[in-house]
Amino acid sequence: MSFFKRKKQITENRTLPTHIAIIMDGNGRWAKKRSLPRTAGHAAGSKKFKEIARYCNKIGIKYLTVYAFSTENWRRPKEEVDAIMNIFRDYLKDSANFKSENIMLKFIGDRSGMPEDIIKLMAQAEYDSKDATGLRVYMAINYGGRDELVHALRDIVREAIPAEEITEDTISSHIYTREYPDPELIIRPSGEYRLSNFLIWQSAYSEFWFSDVLWPDFSSDDLERAIDDYNKRNRRFGGV
Ligand code: IPE
Ligand code: IPE
Ligand code: MG
Repeated sequence: MSFFKRKKQITENRTLPTHIAIIMDGNGRWAKKRSLPRTAGHAAGSKKFKEIARYCNKIGIKYLTVYAFSTENWRRPKEEVDAIMNIFRDYLKDSANFKSENIMLKFIGDRSGMPEDIIKLMAQAEYDSKDATGLRVYMAINYGGRDELVHALRDIVREAIPAEEITEDTISSHIYTREYPDPELIIRPSGEYRLSNFLIWQSAYSEFWFSDVLWPDFSSDDLERAIDDYNKRNRRFGGV
């Protein structure tokens, strides 16, 4: 099928998820396959993130959440964590690029656990892109779904909300993703079939899409396949 025909089919015959979430996994194995240091895999993964975010913006996805660093990833060797932080620094210094493309960038996770200079760069990147009206990218950094719920509960207790007034909405409005809808589609490449503490509250009724492709090799065609498969799913939400 020609590119133009395919494009036509994309816009006319299918429903786009409003919010896609991606677990960007497989950087280390991608590098190992090429006899490169794991760091090279993280650099390639960062490049891939920019490419896929641009593609999502182009086709009209409204929200993209990407899992970039988990609360558990601090368990990795210091050299690897330092290298990931450096890639992150470089990315943030460069993030004005997204602004010119009308992409908004925000972060979810516990940023108090991040290095000081990175916290500042994160705030600057959010400020710089705040008026963008295209894709909204939420990058999960020092993010853990359980940690997110702990923080939400602490806030709920601090606000002294009476127990009998606590509903599912109370929790949804105290988690990091409070300002945007739950993901309809969660994608995990790299051949792993688990959430690894990603969006555990928000994924209650998400559709999951797995692939053996390692994240740096993930392509816009893979994303298209995931969206096509999502369109074939029958979402019942407990009904019939
Ligand atoms: C994902 O790739 C990036 C982070 C977790 C920071 P990995 O580094 O987990 O890659 P694999 O799973 O070892 O291949
Ligand atoms: C999940 O990948 C976290 C990110 C992609 C940022 P991991 O590689 O850390 O997950 P596990 O350890 O395989 O579950
Ligand atoms: Mg991994």
